[in-house]
Amino acid sequence: MGWEELRSECMKCRRCALAETRTNVVFGDGVKTAKVMFVGEGPGENEDLTGLPFVGRGGQLLTDMLSLIDLDRSKNFYIANIVKCRPPQNRDPSHSEEEACIGWLRRQIELVSPKIIICLGRIAASVLIDTDFKITREHGKFYEKDGIVYTAIYHPAALLRDPRRRPETFEDLKAIQAEIKRLCPETYEEKSRF
Ligand code: URA
Repeated sequence: MGWEELRSECMKCRRCALAETRTNVVFGDGVKTAKVMFVGEGPGENEDLTGLPFVGRGGQLLTDMLSLIDLDRSKNFYIANIVKCRPPQNRDPSHSEEEACIGWLRRQIELVSPKIIICLGRIAASVLIDTDFKITREHGKFYEKDGIVYTAIYHPAALLRDPRRRPETFEDLKAIQAEIKRLCPETYEEKSRF
């Protein structure tokens, strides 16, 4: 499935009960040819209302943090979630919801073909890196699987709840920037307009 068919099929998805309560499917956003990809857990209220990932308060914090390492979703990364529909009351997605939904993300990953995937929070890391992922101990570490480097940072909502975690997240982001420069330096090359 190419991008267009994938998107239109995903928008109609009724593979789990989250379809009953969603306003919008939150497919993903950003540059489809980027070498850097971010993955969160699932839409919150603002994302459900707009159909775009990470546009609420946590999303704004993420946008601000990533701008410090010259990452911008309109220029050099793609962002999506493990589940595409909002879990009611922002509860964690269930394993069966993750399983029903993960095929969409797997195909997005194939199409983007990133060199590095940064998981936002424990849930994304537990699906993409290791089922027993411990975010407090394992954030900022790099793992390689099938030619893709994976890492995880604290979820922006966790950084809003506990700002004491921000300095270590900034250290993780600096290490991620160095890794991006090593793996795919073109991420940081300004495209000449002429
Ligand atoms: N939290 C997530 O994990 N994803 C979003 O898109 C928004 C908030």
